[in-house]
Amino acid sequence: MEGQQMQELVIRKIPFDFDGVPFLWNPDNPRFALDMNKVSFFAIGLERYFCRAVQAAEPRIDDPQVLAIARAFREQESLHSLAHRQHVRALSARYPGLRETLEQLIAHFDALYEARSLDFHLAYAGGLESIFTPVFRLFLDYRAIYFGGGDPRVASLFLWHFCEEIEHRSAALDVYNHVCGSYLFRLRNLPAIARHVAQGLQLLDAGFKAHVPDVPAHLYSAPEKVGVPRGAHLAVLSGILGAQLPGHRPAKQSVPEYFHEWTARHAAGEDMTRVYGQGVGA
Ligand SMILES: [Fe+2]
Ligand SMILES: [Fe+2]
Repeated sequence: MEGQQMQELVIRKIPFDFDGVPFLWNPDNPRFALDMNKVSFFAIGLERYFCRAVQAAEPRIDDPQVLAIARAFREQESLHSLAHRQHVRALSARYPGLRETLEQLIAHFDALYEARSLDFHLAYAGGLESIFTPVFRLFLDYRAIYFGGGDPRVASLFLWHFCEEIEHRSAALDVYNHVCGSYLFRLRNLPAIARHVAQGLQLLDAGFKAHVPDVPAHLYSAPEKVGVPRGAHLAVLSGILGAQLPGHRPAKQSVPEYFHEWTARHAAGEDMTRVYGQGVGA
């Protein structure tokens, strides 16, 4: 357990509103906008699943520091899920069929929750959360390319979420290590976890294609926008692989400079609902 993290988790309620946001909210990088919309849907099911698992694990936690981390983790994740629901609600107002897609995605996680053990759920949370820092670092470091031309409301939602994922990067693995602790069990279940993630993303692809007719078909397989150096992608890959090693400690990973900027601006009382994007700080 990384003992210092408990003090670092801040519960932030940010009053986002997404009324009328376009589906492809970043005309400069529509492929990324499409991918992030999938993240919004995915996060609702995923974070609900993680919260159920961690709550169910809490009676098995006998260290008050780990228990405090578990509770703060659930609190942050619940707020993320709520904000993504608001985003998805705004998209569904324009494309009502997407409500069914969200229900299917939630059912995808509920089925897993029923089918597998608590140790499996905690391995899913601990394993996936521990690769978020290298992945989200890419989006924060190259935010001008990913978010710069985007609707500031949606860009700000993701920047908040990615910063808080980095902030609580150790929490789920701490809970897994405390409650279950087997590295081999986590490793053995990696393929099943990766398969479940891939199936969820395929489900969203199909839902978007069925219910959002005005997204051009080629966008789903469009190459990523150029501008991000190859080395940055390799760093993500190496971060993901490094997170699979025994003894990996997410708390020891360095934090992107934007994390410090974002948290300082929030602490100073800035409006974080429109912190970056088209016409704002970009
Ligand atoms: Fe989250
Ligand atoms: Fe998280």
